[in-house]
Amino acid sequence: MKKVLKWIGMVLGSLIGLVLVAGIVLYLMGNARLNKTYEFPPSNIDVPTDTASIEYGRHRAETLCQGCHGKDLGGIENWFSAGPLGTIDSANLTSGEGGFGREATSVEDYVRAIRHGIDPEGKPIFMPAVVSTANLSDEDLGAIIAYVKSVPPVDHVTRGHQFTPLAKIMLVVGMLPPLPVEVVSHELHVSAPARGPSVEYGKYLVDTNDCRVCHGPGLNGGPFPDPTIKVITPNLTRGGEVGFWTEEQFVNTIRTGLTPSGHELDPALMPWKDYQYMTDDELSAIYKYLHEIPKLEQYTK
Ligand code: HEC
Ligand code: HEC
Repeated sequence: MKKVLKWIGMVLGSLIGLVLVAGIVLYLMGNARLNKTYEFPPSNIDVPTDTASIEYGRHRAETLCQGCHGKDLGGIENWFSAGPLGTIDSANLTSGEGGFGREATSVEDYVRAIRHGIDPEGKPIFMPAVVSTANLSDEDLGAIIAYVKSVPPVDHVTRGHQFTPLAKIMLVVGMLPPLPVEVVSHELHVSAPARGPSVEYGKYLVDTNDCRVCHGPGLNGGPFPDPTIKVITPNLTRGGEVGFWTEEQFVNTIRTGLTPSGHELDPALMPWKDYQYMTDDELSAIYKYLHEIPKLEQYTK
């Protein structure tokens, strides 16, 4: 009996030891991924100085950046916060104290963040939107940078990402999404179709606005990207409710957050309060695109 107990003790002891060692190894691997430095050739983006371009940059930033960085672009503390995983503050983009505008030494630093998902030192940032903002055309990216550089300074020191060892382990075993720098295409030059209410421009807007991050690669719904929120997003193809909406109903839904069937879209889940600033042409383009893509069944788990 004693022998058996001793034997069980030894097996358990070595198992616990193994788990500990595996945990430490995974943790170190996670650390290595977060500290890896990347380098990409410069895009040499033109940053326009004329008012029309800066105004256009403001318009794009309104739908693309403010939801996460705040209306004054001063950054949001605990933009993501989940006790056991850690926290992420979105960056202060202005030139005030603690702002990226003060830290950045060149336009290329902005391009590194928005197109490649790395900080000025080449290390990964955890800005999930990079999978969409990497698709911004050179022209749009230049206009957005011009606008961001023009906003009044806000003094606000933010802390970036603070991941716990558990989060680093989950990153390595694939329980957290990969880092944006690991998945985007790193194109140096991107062009966009002409602006206007066309299917092609609608695709470009969908590709640059995070719709796929939440509604899935085929836009037929998917798991909400924040793993702590258990929601399946609705199908935007003709296989879903949107397929039965007129263009006017679609535009009204994005502007008011109220669907034709009277359902209120939760602005904490579906960022219609950012998208409501899209112009009629932009929303028309997205509607046309959604009605053109393959009709798919609603994603279910
Ligand atoms: C879905 C949310 C989200 C959206 C949308 C978003 N960002 Fe961010 N951004 C973040 C977060 C979070 C961070 C901090 C990442 C970190 O510290 O790892 C960040 C960091 C940054 C940084 C700082 C990088 C650094 O090295 O510190 C810049 C610059 C930036 N974002 C620009 C933009 C611009 C411009 C837009 C709009 C085109 C935008 N972001 C849209 C969430 C977002
Ligand atoms: C951060 C995640 C997220 C992003 C980004 C996002 N959506 Fe949504 N969307 C949702 C969720 C969640 C719902 C369901 C909300 C609810 O029922 O309260 C939704 C609902 C909708 C609906 C209503 C559909 C229906 O059948 O009722 C439409 C239309 C829609 N989204 C379009 C878009 C478009 C277009 C984009 C990109 C421009 C987009 N969404 C980006 C999460 C997102």
